[in-house]
Amino acid sequence: MFLHGTSRINDANHLEIGGCDVTELKAEYGTPLYIVDEQLVRRRCREYMEAFTASGLGFQVAYASKAFSVMAMCRLADEEGLSLDVVSDGELYTALQAGFPAERIHFHGNNKTPDEIEMAIDAGIGCFVADNLVELHMLQAIALRKEVTVNILLRVTPGVEAHAHHAYASTGQTDSKFGFDIGNGAAQEAVKLASAQSNLQLLGVHSHIGSQIFETEGFELAVERIAEFTRKVKEELGVEFPVVNLGGGFGIRYVEGDTPLQVSEYVAAITGAVKKHFTGISEKLPQIWVEPGRSIVGDAGTTLYTVGTNKEIPGVRKYVAVDGGMTDNPRPALYESKYEALLANRAAEPNEETVSIAGKCCESGDMLIWDVELPKVESGDLLAVACTGAYNYSMASNYNRIRRPAVVFVQNGQSDLVVRRESHQDIIANDIIPARIAKQTVAK
Ligand code: LLP
Repeated sequence: MFLHGTSRINDANHLEIGGCDVTELKAEYGTPLYIVDEQLVRRRCREYMEAFTASGLGFQVAYASKAFSVMAMCRLADEEGLSLDVVSDGELYTALQAGFPAERIHFHGNNKTPDEIEMAIDAGIGCFVADNLVELHMLQAIALRKEVTVNILLRVTPGVEAHAHHAYASTGQTDSKFGFDIGNGAAQEAVKLASAQSNLQLLGVHSHIGSQIFETEGFELAVERIAEFTRKVKEELGVEFPVVNLGGGFGIRYVEGDTPLQVSEYVAAITGAVKKHFTGISEKLPQIWVEPGRSIVGDAGTTLYTVGTNKEIPGVRKYVAVDGGMTDNPRPALYESKYEALLANRAAEPNEETVSIAGKCCESGDMLIWDVELPKVESGDLLAVACTGAYNYSMASNYNRIRRPAVVFVQNGQSDLVVRRESHQDIIANDIIPARIAKQTVAK
């Protein structure tokens, strides 16, 4: 397994993250356990902030909280000076409860409800990213009733099909549930409508072309298309865009063979393309906003499991089962995502066998890794799966009524619990047995 950030093998041949020996983390918190390398998260935040500062452009780096939305992470993003992208009342609530400054929160989503819009306006968020005509009318009506002006960006699809890791993660093409298409004229109509609304302040446009992208070409093409659109809108409608938001999607290394760029390379490509294509359109270059999620938290996360049973099918394969699975990491089942693993309590031992890592759900699709080389694995061993910081805890479920794991932040030899493990009580907390079918003591 590739060692990311502060991960290393210590003298006891144990995996250590943030100066914490994972066997001690297991003893203290149990497994499965999400371990977040705080220093690496901060480093990623700073890489974005420093690269944009170096570009000389105005900017905001909004952490896409869908990747990992918990209060401690919102605090950390705030401390590092990032803004925040939320897509639901739940993510908004999490951010507000964590004390994240509302004016740096951007609200996304293709189906914001009236209640969500009201909640966000009442909280005083910085900006809505408006996705469709129905929403534009709703935003105007609610803002008018509340006698406020709300900032909006219009989400547009620039017709760019980025090389995302899975078709479900491509969003910049014309046939997408998100946004107004530039190519078919819908985006220009939306600009006309939005700029005519008394209670909407149109700041500019937003595009997100996909996720887990390893090249800069898609981003550069999106910038070029948006610049052409900006020029046209200025000429034909007299509307200017002080802000251009280019979304997220910057790739990370999950397994050998993945070839992401450095954060600074993505940022240099984007800011370079902005300078090239936007110069001369308006007096000032637009502010550039981005929304990285995965590339902030992805490689900082490791999931620690305890190995339980195994099953060897002679001539076929050996299954090794761990105490989690698709409930804490649904990505292999959903997207056929690949991961690397390490036997974390005997990390320096040579690999001896090829095994496949199964989860504990009652479903054959619940596999975490097919065919991974490991030392001889025994029950009770600890297995670490790397790069689980993004879209793992945030996509975890209680399928089979399995309790969601705890999350710890580790740094400088210290571990801090940031999400406690769910209890059995949590599992039934929302259940109600109607009196009609409640267990009765039947008189015989
Ligand atoms: N901005 C918008 C509007 C987005 O839709 C997304 C991700 C992001 C930013 C952040 O993208 P990132 O930098 O994290 O790639 N569950 C999938 C990923 C879905 C991404 C959805 N939108 C996965 O596990 O790969």
